[in-house]
Amino acid sequence: MNAHFALLPGDGIGPEIVQEARIALDAVADRYGHDFSYSEHPIGGCSIDASGDPLPAATIEACRRADAVILGAVGGPKWSDPEAPIRPEDGLLAIRKELGLYANLRPIKTFEALVDASPLRRDIVDGTDILFVRELTGGIYFGGSTTSDGGDTVVDHMRYTVAEVERIVRFAASAARKRSRRLTSVDKANVLEVSRLWRRVTLRVMAEEFPDVALETVLVDAMAMHLLSRPRDFDVVVTGNLFGDILTDEASMLPGSLGLLASASLGDGALGVYEPIHGSAPDIAGRGIANPLGAILSAALALRHSLGLDTEAEAVESAVDRVLTAGLRTQDIAAGGAAIGTAAMGAAVAEELRAENPL
Ligand code: IPM
Ligand code: MG
Repeated sequence: MNAHFALLPGDGIGPEIVQEARIALDAVADRYGHDFSYSEHPIGGCSIDASGDPLPAATIEACRRADAVILGAVGGPKWSDPEAPIRPEDGLLAIRKELGLYANLRPIKTFEALVDASPLRRDIVDGTDILFVRELTGGIYFGGSTTSDGGDTVVDHMRYTVAEVERIVRFAASAARKRSRRLTSVDKANVLEVSRLWRRVTLRVMAEEFPDVALETVLVDAMAMHLLSRPRDFDVVVTGNLFGDILTDEASMLPGSLGLLASASLGDGALGVYEPIHGSAPDIAGRGIANPLGAILSAALALRHSLGLDTEAEAVESAVDRVLTAGLRTQDIAAGGAAIGTAAMGAAVAEELRAENPL
């Protein structure tokens, strides 16, 4: 298969880890006889520096022409002045909106080899396998804000339409159908009017269209607690943009490190943006110590969701599993033990992908 990847390395550790995702994709292409090509485009803070725009039109056009987009991370202290008129994060929000990527998939699965790296006890986290489906182009992120009282009163609007809730619930319920047929919808319906709409629509769509999927509704504060006390009880979790942002950072600690986790942002077509959940980690940028596995696993999601290459995606996931089982660790998961760098970890995964006799 011929496929073109638009690479958007972005800021901080973004370029280092996207490079390793590309090396893994090259290994997949060699092994399975595909022809993958790549182009790099600016986004985020480095793009503000270069052109004043965190998402130049040329970047978005290149993404539209690509089969999949691999994004590193955006942001850093250089651009984080609260008074700044433009922020690197604006580029990230704009690419999601422009490409219509309303469904953000964030799989949270423990790795057997790393269960003891989790800050939670093995008996709580072992076997956790949750798929978060976060609504990504609506809610308080995109409701606009109003300022009055000469700047003394500021309101951010949390806004959802029936159509927006319907499509994300359908997306999540379809995913649940392929898993254990259980869906948890998280809201704050005891307080927020928007959440009452969310819940009403969710109950209706599930009853009418997914009678075979068991639905549970949970309030977001209780969910924050359940994630730490009984994470294994959840399968697919659907929630709005802000709650999903917060809960997935919390859940990312279950497998032990934010550096391990991948995400896919999808819409109605095949095109998706794939990025690790972690940020730009400016404190360790340029030192070659960042964990590239979140980016490499994001490339695996791109193979699966945008290219339909399930076998290849599983090969990447299994290669990552094997290098972890073999004991290779970047510093974030080394628990004070021996650690290898970003490039060595990426090379180990690529070598596993090419290996005739895997580890
Ligand atoms: C994420 C990030 C972004 C978000 C930021 C960087 C705008 O935290 O992808 O979860 O809040 O969506
Ligand atoms: Mg976040």
